[in-house]
Order: sequence, then structure tokens, then C-alpha cells
Amino acid sequence: MKKFFAPASAFALGLAVLLAGFSSQAQAPKARENAWFPGQGMMPLGAYYYPEHWPRSRWEQDIKRMSQLGFKFIHMSEFAWSQLEPEDNRFTFGWLDTCVALSAKYNLQVILCTPTPTPPAWLTTKFDDITTVNAQGIKIRHQGRLHGSWSSERYRFYVERICTKLAERYGKNPAVIGWQLDNEPSYGGVHYDYSPMATDRFRGWLKEKYGTIAALNKAWGADFWSNNYNTFEQIRIPNQNELSASVNPHALLDFQRFNNSELTRYLALQTTTLRKYIQPRQFVTTNFAYYRFLPEINLFDKKSFLDFSSYTYYPMNYYFDAPEFKGESYRLGSGLGLSFSAEFAQSTHGYGGFMELQPGQINWGPFNAQPLPGAVRMWLFHSFGLGSNFICTYRFDRPIYGAEQYHYGIMSTDPNIVDRGGEEFVQVAKEMQALDKQRDAKTAAAEPAAYSGRRVAILYSQDNILDQTNHKQTQQWDAYEHLLRYYSAAKQGGSAVTFITEDQPLDVKRFPVLVAPAYTILDQPLVDKWTKYVQEGGHLIISCRSGHKDRNGHLYETRMAKILQPLTGAQVDYFDNMPPTAQGNVGFNGKRFAWNNWGDVLMPELAPGTQVWGSYEDQFFKGRPAVTHRKLGKGTVTYVGVDTDNGDLEAAVMQKVYAEAKIKALDLPRYFYVHWRDGYWVAVNYNGEAVQAPVPANAKIIMGKSLVAPGEVCIWKE
Ligand code: GAL
Repeated sequence: MKKFFAPASAFALGLAVLLAGFSSQAQAPKARENAWFPGQGMMPLGAYYYPEHWPRSRWEQDIKRMSQLGFKFIHMSEFAWSQLEPEDNRFTFGWLDTCVALSAKYNLQVILCTPTPTPPAWLTTKFDDITTVNAQGIKIRHQGRLHGSWSSERYRFYVERICTKLAERYGKNPAVIGWQLDNEPSYGGVHYDYSPMATDRFRGWLKEKYGTIAALNKAWGADFWSNNYNTFEQIRIPNQNELSASVNPHALLDFQRFNNSELTRYLALQTTTLRKYIQPRQFVTTNFAYYRFLPEINLFDKKSFLDFSSYTYYPMNYYFDAPEFKGESYRLGSGLGLSFSAEFAQSTHGYGGFMELQPGQINWGPFNAQPLPGAVRMWLFHSFGLGSNFICTYRFDRPIYGAEQYHYGIMSTDPNIVDRGGEEFVQVAKEMQALDKQRDAKTAAAEPAAYSGRRVAILYSQDNILDQTNHKQTQQWDAYEHLLRYYSAAKQGGSAVTFITEDQPLDVKRFPVLVAPAYTILDQPLVDKWTKYVQEGGHLIISCRSGHKDRNGHLYETRMAKILQPLTGAQVDYFDNMPPTAQGNVGFNGKRFAWNNWGDVLMPELAPGTQVWGSYEDQFFKGRPAVTHRKLGKGTVTYVGVDTDNGDLEAAVMQKVYAEAKIKALDLPRYFYVHWRDGYWVAVNYNGEAVQAPVPANAKIIMGKSLVAPGEVCIWKE
């Protein structure tokens, strides 16, 4: 069991209802063409700027400097509601008009934001039904952010009005290229809204879902502990704080699904409002924060109405994963977190970029070390390799007051001094220009067969993450860490990863390898779909805890995970969890791998042709299968019944799957990443020691050295 900094997230996410009927006015851009940042190269750089924090006399100097330093776009107005509408229905856009005009003067494209994460005091204090209520029943008051209730009709009225005013004013402005909705949409540290407005809407949502109270009672397993309801009006939001025993897991899952669908409705309202006035060339996105502390948000169900997903990431927050530090590697950040954020969000539209990437030291991590010289540049090139279409940094100016003092910007607290990280952005802006110039259209268009041939798809299910987080079964279970072990294994193989949801087609050519990590909730049609994928030549890896429950989260009335047995050829007998101090071992490929989180103990009898790849080496179930593998049709199915701490077993299984399938994968050390993008191979090193990049003898190194030092980058062409 390892846990460094990851904050326990008591609750998790809601799977939402897909909004039908939305479609972007603009054509979906093709990856790598950079349709939304026209004429700005493969990966333009931009920065957040807060003119409202500075005297008017500074604006031109700052905006001019941003342009001179090589930035291509500027990001404004995200938290500026009280400056845009200082009193109810009185709007003051003059300051923003000036800054948009100055940006145009200095050739900066503009991203504007809806200022809805920070409702003004005149609004939150005038009405009691604007803001959220937390799980302790405390009304969230004015001062922080992300406290407007998505379920409040009154709040939605004011949101719609400010969005309308902004869109009317800037929707045709040639300098404005797009819009960001809200900021890291979520309720932040409050996670869920327990207000009367949310309660009312939740009841309505349940009525619509179930129709009758009898149907709800059945789905919620309400005969257990006499939970039965007579009417929908009796239902309260499930809240552990007001219960004397465990919350009903089915009620909780539904509430989390509802919460996410409320967010979808809220963002959809903003999108449709903006789109009434803006030109189709202006994009609409939002900056998802998909690292661990906002697990309740599902970005896949926003896909239909956003033009793409962008994302925020602070590599040195270490909330996402805590690498083993060697030397000064704690100054390099989490490459896995950065990689996951990018590939996860890009999976919705095949296009995307970082809306926030830290430019230097931050003020809110568990510790806030100075990045190693070169680390900021490495993050930028890592993002480039991952296919990011733009990078915006948080932030250009460095705050001298407010909650984020000590947070670095591109500039120091002295507005004439470019900070350390700022210098690295400037360097990359120049280097990107050179890469843009040297880009060869022919090689840029043709992804190497070896790279596409090892692409991995990971099935992502918000319901599964929620269900397992709500009912961990062992304190050591962490649904995200489990998923990340497979993500990391794919990265060690040098694979690009796409996250897909179960409603998406499974194309064997596009995704030669598919991982279904801990897929607890599933049904027969999904198993049939996986079976077809395998029979057509796909290589499917299914991990422990899969196939236990139906869509309501009820256990199947069969032997455990029997639904998967015809596909895997193996039957789970029972599972085991051990205390953190105990250690079990699995033998695999002649090596021993330690585990103690979760072990599915498989029956000794396997379907004909099913091989045992790994077995338990100790405990009373010594000798029982733990990892199995079989050929089925043209493909293979591998079942990994164990969850380890360090992911070594998972990585070894992945390598063996690649090898059996004759897939040309790499075998990279952890925290070393290799990607291909637009004709360039990019390697970055987050380790405390140098690593040799797999540069072929005939390749031409464009940047760096093949022995990649900590925090360094190597780019080559083949
Ligand atoms: C982000 C947030 C920004 C700012 C930043 C500071 O998560 O979206 O508004 O607070 O952190 O690092």
C-alpha cells in the first residue's frame, strides 16, 4: 500500500445522461490541423491575464510584452463577474473592450471566459437560493468560488444573462477565437450541493428515471433495512452526515449521476446561450480539472456540445500520483499525471490542449518545490509529444494579493522581470517555431505503423469509478490508482492511449489492445461486444473486480463474475484483501510480484485452451490461478485477478500481451515517455537519472541528446 499525498476522496463522481440534440455549429476539427487556432502552428502558447487586478496604466505594457515574448493568445475575464456587472443589470464592458483591442493591436488571439465561477456579492447576498449547501448543511457564502448552484433556476437566469451580454458584445469580434465556460467546472472542495434546490431537482430526476416509487424502491434495494419510500417527496439527498449507518449505495450512485447531469445541463445552458450570438469560428470549451480532487465530474457526456475538452494540470501537485523520488526528481513533477490529463481529455474530440499549465512554483501543493531548471520546458515538449494543440499557462502576471500569493507567473512580481519558468516558455516558443518550419508534410501525416500498431484503448466508466469509491471493500482500493497502473503499463510500452466509453465502437484496427480495468458494473450486451472485438482480432485485458454487478449496482445472482467466464475461460471462486502489513506473492514469467490490495482467486478448472500465466505462491490458496490468458477467434483475452501496489505485475502482463500478439512495443523505464507527433519522436525524462532514448541508428536528432538527462528532452525524426 502506498499513499503519499493523494487526498482521500470520500465521494466520487456521477455518470450523466447524454444530452441529445446538441451539435456543434462548426465542423469537428481533425487532430493535428489546429483548426481552432488558425495560422498559429502546431502548438501555440498563450497565457492567463487578469487586467482587473492591475491599474489601467499597466495593461498595454503587459499585453505588448506577452506578444513580444512569443505568446500567441491571451485568456481573460474568467473570474470577473463583479467587474463586468457591478450591480444587478448594470454592465461595464469598457475595460474588457480596451484589453481585447490591445490584444488585437499586438496580434494576440483572445479566449474569453464566462465569469460564472464567481457570482458577485450583490447576487449571492440578495437571494438565498443562489448558492450551494455543503454536506454538513452549511450554506456556502460569498468569498470563494464555484458556489453557484447548478440547480438554482434563479442562478441560471443570471448566468444566462451575463453569457448573453458577453456573447452579444464579443461574439463577432475578430480578435476573439473562442470561449471557456466557467472554470474547472465543479463545486471544488464542497463536491456536492445539498441545497433545497438540488433536493427538488433530484426528486424530479428520480421521478423521470423511475416513473413509480415502486420501481425506485426496487432499484435502490429498499427492502434492505426497511428503506422503502411511499412518495418521491420523502427522498432526501443521501448524506452520510445525517445517517446512523452506511448510506444506501444505490441511492448514492444515483445522486452522483444526477449531480453530474446537473453540471451537464448548466454547461449546456451556457453553450446554447453563447451560440445564439457567436460566430461558428469561435470555439466553446471548458477547462476540466481531471486530476484526483475533482473526481465527480464526467467529461465524456459534455462531448456533444463542446468543440473540444481542454484541461488544467499542475505537474508538481503530486495529487495524481506520487512517483518514487530519486535525486531531485521531486522537482520534475508527475509525468504520468500530465500525460493522463492530456490523453484523457483529448479522447473526447481527438483535439485539445492545456488551458492551464504551471509556469513555475505554485502555492497550494503538499509542498511547493522550485521546478528543476528545464522542467517547465520538458512539460511543454511532453505536451507537444502527447498531441496538445495549444498550451495556455496559468498565469502571465504574478498575483501580489489574494489567495494565490507566491504563485509564479511568466513575469515576476516586478512586471519588468521575466521569471525562470517564463524564460523557458520563451525558449519553447522559439523552438516551436523552428519545429513548425522543419515540419515535413509527408512524414507528419503518416503515423508510423509501429506507433499505431501498439495503440491502447482504456475503457472508462464513471459508474465503475463511483461504485468502487463508494464501496472500496478494502481501504487499499483506489479506483484511479488501479486504472493508472494500466495506463502506466501502456506508457512503458510506448503506446499512445485513448480513453473510450462503452457506447463507442470497438475497432480492432484502431485499438489493437483494449483494457477494461476493474469493470465491476457490466451487462451481457457489453460482454458480447467485447467478445466480438476479441474474435475479430483484438487483445483484451480485463482486470480484477470485473463483472460483479448489474446496472443498478446489485450483485448478480450467480457465482461471482460468472457473466465473464465464457469470455475469459476462468471462473472467480472468491477474492481476498490483505492488511497493508501482509504480503502475498504471485509468480509470473519466472518472477515474483508482491500484492496485498486485491486478489481474485480463480477456480483451478479452466475452459479448454485457457492458460495459467500467473499463480498465487502463498496463502491458503497457494497454487490457484491469478492471471489467465486464452486465444479466442483471432484475438486474445487476458484476465489479471490481482491489483498490486507498484504496478510491476500489470506492466509485465502488458509486455507479455504485446509480445504474444507480435506488437512492436517498447520497454521503457517508468517516468520516461516517448511519443510520436507530426513527424517528430519526442522523449522526456522525469527520472532522477539519465535514460537512453530508443533512437534508431538511422534517425536524425533534432533537439537534445539520446542520453536524456533528468528534465531533458530529445526529439528525433526517422
Ligand atoms: C487552478 C485554477 C485556477 C488557479 C490555479 C492556481 O486549479 O483553475 O483558477 O486557481 O489553480 O494554481
